[in-house]
Amino acid sequence: MRYLITGTAGFVGFHLAKQLLEAGHIVTGFDGMTPYYDVRLKQMRHTILERHPNFTAVVGLLEDAHALSEAAKERPDVIMHLAGQAGVRYSVENPKAYFDSNLAGSWNVLELARKHEVSHLMLASTSSVYGANQSIPYSEADKADEPLTFYAASKKAMEVMAHSYAHVYGIPTTAFRFFTVYGPWGRPDMALFKFVKAILEDKEIEIYGEGRMSRDFTYVDDLVGAIIDLSHVVPSETNRVRSADVEDTLSAMAPFRVVNIGGGQPFGLLDFIDVIERTLDKKARRKLLPMQTGDMERTFANADLLTALTGSKPQTPLETGVRAFVEWYLRDGTEYDFHTLPPAA
Ligand SMILES: NC(=O)c1ccc[n+]([C@@H]2O[C@H](COP(=O)([O-])OP(=O)(O)OC[C@H]3O[C@@H](n4cnc5c(N)ncnc54)[C@H](O)[C@@H]3O)[C@@H](O)[C@H]2O)c1
Repeated sequence: MRYLITGTAGFVGFHLAKQLLEAGHIVTGFDGMTPYYDVRLKQMRHTILERHPNFTAVVGLLEDAHALSEAAKERPDVIMHLAGQAGVRYSVENPKAYFDSNLAGSWNVLELARKHEVSHLMLASTSSVYGANQSIPYSEADKADEPLTFYAASKKAMEVMAHSYAHVYGIPTTAFRFFTVYGPWGRPDMALFKFVKAILEDKEIEIYGEGRMSRDFTYVDDLVGAIIDLSHVVPSETNRVRSADVEDTLSAMAPFRVVNIGGGQPFGLLDFIDVIERTLDKKARRKLLPMQTGDMERTFANADLLTALTGSKPQTPLETGVRAFVEWYLRDGTEYDFHTLPPAA
């Protein structure tokens, strides 16, 4: 199969492309190498993918429809759209980056899928869309109309724009909501990278929400496995889940479905730090800080729909995944950093 994957220089897109290439598929990777975090890490991920003869890299911005259409000139069967402006906190400083990448950029991807009549369009959304939702665990059928950040709003907007395209142009579309993905080659702006780096460098770690937050951590290999499994479940009435216990989100009007990808096993932030400390065999210098604007106190996936559609859900124990990250970090990761960007002009 021929895949166009956006965001292949990013953490998740890199792992996804690598797995598809290793399975013998042809992948074009599209990425803008945006400077939100250390671009050398993005370049290194692409360098690794470029060792594979079936990989073609195209560097360009999603907002550039011409560059995107060049990347699709070999006519992909499937588009997996993972590029985007990620990060909850940066969206408080610079909402425009989210508007440009996640709204304008994603619209260009929808147009591309329409033009090429792809057999399946897959989109990366986020657990952040559950925002002010109080019912736990988060089910896809729950209301997700009260985002707490513009990041979440931009991803929710992408989902609903895609529903309209699925309906009007008949594009089979799966939007998946990720829950705190972690693992080797991970992002320097995320807690695991920041904590491991700070502990090893004898610096304080900043723990927001006084440590009361919890997250449903998802190991990246589990996540990629779930995306690939879902790629075979092209939304249609023939695969509507008919179990009384699972609410399918397959639209009544369009080949469109939203699926959580999370294991449904949330960890408290302080327990997460304990795991890191045990793995590093070193204590953290902990600095407790209040909640930051836009942070959600907890995330917790209901994984029933994912399990019904694919037969499995993320299972890797946190200890195993953290160890894999630390091994990677010590081997290849120490030179990378998260440079906070200046606020938008
Ligand atoms: N990692 C997580 O825990 C997580 C959780 C929820 C949702 N997501 C979503 O999953 C997707 C992948 O996340 P990730 O962790 O790999 O993030 P990442 O930042 O590592 O990867 C995103 C990639 O998109 C590229 N990009 C950003 N804006 C672009 C633009 N306008 N044009 C072209 N390329 C652009 C970046 O250069 C980057 O390489 C993102 O859409 C993110 O919002 C991730």
